[in-house]
Amino acid sequence: MATAKADLDWKNLGFGWRKTDANIRFTFGDGKWDEGVLVSDDVIPLHIGATCLHYGQECFEGLKAYETKSGDVVVFRIEENARRLIRSCERIMMEPVPEEMFIHAVFRVVDANRRFVPPYGTGGTLYIRPLLLGTTGAMALRPSVDYLFVVFVTPVGPYFKTGFTPVDLIVEDDLDRAAPRGVGHVKVGGNYAAGMKASTRAKAKGYADALYLDPRAKRFIDEAGPANFFAITRDRQYVTPDSESILPSITNNSLITLAEDMGLRPVRRPVDVEEIFEFAEAGCCGTAAVITPVKSITYRDRVVVYCQDGRPGPVCTDLYQRLTAIQCGDAPDPYGWVRRVPECG
Ligand code: PLP
Ligand code: COI
Repeated sequence: MATAKADLDWKNLGFGWRKTDANIRFTFGDGKWDEGVLVSDDVIPLHIGATCLHYGQECFEGLKAYETKSGDVVVFRIEENARRLIRSCERIMMEPVPEEMFIHAVFRVVDANRRFVPPYGTGGTLYIRPLLLGTTGAMALRPSVDYLFVVFVTPVGPYFKTGFTPVDLIVEDDLDRAAPRGVGHVKVGGNYAAGMKASTRAKAKGYADALYLDPRAKRFIDEAGPANFFAITRDRQYVTPDSESILPSITNNSLITLAEDMGLRPVRRPVDVEEIFEFAEAGCCGTAAVITPVKSITYRDRVVVYCQDGRPGPVCTDLYQRLTAIQCGDAPDPYGWVRRVPECG
């Protein structure tokens, strides 16, 4: 039987936190994970000395659930998120969440919140946020021995409030979000705190977000605050930065495959910031950002404008349509990216 939906303005959700019916919590102690429990409370009890609070032993993931035309609920490339969380754990010495446990946790919490999955065709999605915290109240600077794994969900609209409409970015090259060989390639909270100053400054100047350069040479494009960067060259290459300090985006990885399907040549390589003046199109991509076309980039005292008419370019539009059609079940899924969320009982 179809679930009666929550009473929300589905077409105008925006990107933010909303109360849903349940989140799921697993505790690691005495060397093992418990079975997990669904709760409605949105507050977590934490020891004041917890390693996540003082020393940043915290990592998270972001993925989405989509309602299909037939009313199924599906998730996109969930195994990749599970594996990336494990890589984050390894880098900052946290207890990894086993892949199967991650997937089961997501399924249980999405199943418990079906009425918050935005209806097919509204453009909304259910954003899923798995979060892992080191909870030992040790004070000493060493890895936690206790962990809390929480997965919560919230219905969302586009991350950049204009949706699939080109945005303006500015290169903020006096501030770095990540260090060479630091933690920029994993999804830990400190990266986002480090980016807040440049991002807030960019927004205050009227830009959608900041674009970062590589922290070593300050010459190559890294990524935007919440998303990877890609560009389309005039000879139809899909170019995206190869850098040790950016998050390996699952969306970007998917776009590389779709670009190849479209007859473009995908190339992952260092992208000199001077190249922005040569590209035909540019975009940001990520789970929250989906594909956000870039209208202009300001670099020091120069500006390059990609969408003179303010509309997304043809390649960004094609990529966006192909990606979102697979994600919401409108197009065949030749790569096995989509999994149906089962009834968890
Ligand atoms: N880069 C950063 C810094 C991000 O936070 C995200 C979002 O998760 C991405 C890139 C895009 O990654 P994905 O496509 O896996 O969501
Ligand atoms: C995501 O796209 O899932 C992210 O985690 C980005 C975040 C800034 C919302």
